[in-house]
Amino acid sequence: MRLFLLVIVVLLGCSCKSEKKSNEAVDIAVPERGELSFDSQIFLGNRLFSEKTCITCHDVNRVKKGPSVKEIMAVYNQKSGNIVEFLKGNAKPIVDTTASQVAIMQENIDGFLKKISDEELNSIATYMMHVDRLNPD
Ligand code: HEC
Repeated sequence: MRLFLLVIVVLLGCSCKSEKKSNEAVDIAVPERGELSFDSQIFLGNRLFSEKTCITCHDVNRVKKGPSVKEIMAVYNQKSGNIVEFLKGNAKPIVDTTASQVAIMQENIDGFLKKISDEELNSIATYMMHVDRLNPD
């Protein structure tokens, strides 16, 4: 009888352990990066906008080398433009179509923007679309 109980205890112990293990496996699988929350996207997008040097040509409010983020967004909202598609080189410029200006931005699209992941591009776009939230007038 004792032996029987012992076997049961051992078996239970084993099944508990294996359950725990399978939970761990799930935990490891999840950080396969789920969708970023809205706030994380804004945070990441804001950071990337500086890190990827967008900010050197695009101020939030005023014209630098390129149009301000607010100006870009006014046009994109009005014309239902798609920032991610533009940054991927799949959509034509709609804000400043002066050839020399387009060429400057096109150089970025052909260059470093190719190395930015979709998730990062989405975050940059989300940040730009909600720039008013962080920078009220
Ligand atoms: C060297 C300067 C420079 C840098 C760096 C730069 N841009 Fe631009 N960008 C421009 C200029 C100039 C224009 C105006 C031409 C145009 O509208 O395509 C522009 C236009 C844009 C537009 C509007 C495109 C349209 O539809 O007309 C978006 C969106 C944009 N930039 C996003 C970005 C983002 C995001 C980054 C960083 C990843 C970035 N830019 C970095 C110079 C720059």
